Amino acid sequence: MSFVMDAPLNPDDVSLLWAAPERADEIAALHGHLFDPPWDAESVAQLIEHPAAAAFVAQTRDTKALAGFLIAQIAADEAEILSIGVAPEWQRRGIARHMVEGLVRAARRAEVKRLFLEVAVTNSAANRLYRGLGFEPVGRRLGYYQRPGADPVDAVVLALAL
Ligand SMILES: CC(C)(COP(=O)(O)OP(=O)(O)OC[C@H]1O[C@@H](n2cnc3c(N)ncnc32)[C@H](O)[C@@H]1OP(=O)(O)O)[C@@H](O)C(=O)NCCC(=O)NCCS
Repeated sequence: MSFVMDAPLNPDDVSLLWAAPERADEIAALHGHLFDPPWDAESVAQLIEHPAAAAFVAQTRDTKALAGFLIAQIAADEAEILSIGVAPEWQRRGIARHMVEGLVRAARRAEVKRLFLEVAVTNSAANRLYRGLGFEPVGRRLGYYQRPGADPVDAVVLALAL
């Protein structure tokens, strides 16, 4: 197990680690709690094991329970956040910001120049998180998020220059 950093978010509470494929079940369970449709554990494991992956987990110090995850991919000088989530009981403590900042550090070391992601225009928590970190809108995908029985929702494409 290799620590990405051991401070200073909630130094007594949470650590940020590189995600191991062995945690795919836990990540998939949290993903399913936060997103519809959910990802299954096999898909999560494949993403984590992909050679271009940069994936982190935030875990509690005492029980090692999963508090959050971030899965990204790096391709040449660009990176994309594929998914990020924080367990409801751990939200609003800076964990998502901490994970994105960890990714930014790793991406810079890999000489990545721009970090991208897509977010639903209706997801005000995530939009505030990213805008607060300096991401800027660079595009919009009309009706990108579609669910049966619900109106389609646009995605905004955000980018951060590294
Ligand atoms: C979006 C999400 C990852 C944020 O995780 P988090 O650990 O609670 O976020 P942080 O504590 O790091 O918050 C950083 C900043 O984001 C903004 N923010 C986060 N949650 C917010 C909320 N519920 N309402 C308003 N702003 C919010 C705030 O600006 C916050 O800074 P502040 O607490 O100093 O005001 C979390 O709400 C989540 O898992 N949501 C469900 C999954 C999801 O939508 N993922 C993003 C898909 S693109």
